[in-house]
Amino acid sequence: MLTARRAVLAALALAFAASAHAAGDVEAGRIKANTCMGCHGIPNYNNAYPTYRVPRLGGQHPEYIVAALKEYREGKRPHPTMHAQATALSDQDVDDIAAYLAKAPAHK
Ligand code: HEC
Repeated sequence: MLTARRAVLAALALAFAASAHAAGDVEAGRIKANTCMGCHGIPNYNNAYPTYRVPRLGGQHPEYIVAALKEYREGKRPHPTMHAQATALSDQDVDDIAAYLAKAPAHK
């Protein structure tokens, strides 16, 4: 009887951990995304110098951001700058940043 209760509690704890992970933490993501905004948070999405286009991230689907960052990290999507950025991120960082960016205004 006690064992059954433990099993139920363990299952509940697992379910909670899984959903919390999938959601990402918007507030943590806001802080973690600070360095990204040096490039991605510029009006017209043009870097100042050297001039190059930077994709808009604010308001994107979180799944899209997560997929892009993991592809950069694993080198499946080649780009030296973004590979260097993504290499520093854990899976949790990626989820948090994606959760934040999905809610950020479109000009970010
Ligand atoms: C030094 C400038 C710079 C910094 C800093 C930077 N990025 Fe990028 N990012 C770029 C450029 C340039 C591209 C376009 C790369 C390409 O063509 O694949 C890009 C592409 C992306 C993409 C793909 C978007 C799309 O629509 O394809 C994502 C997602 C992204 N960056 C997220 C981030 C995150 C999150 C951070 C912070 C951890 C970050 N970037 C930091 C310059 C930067």
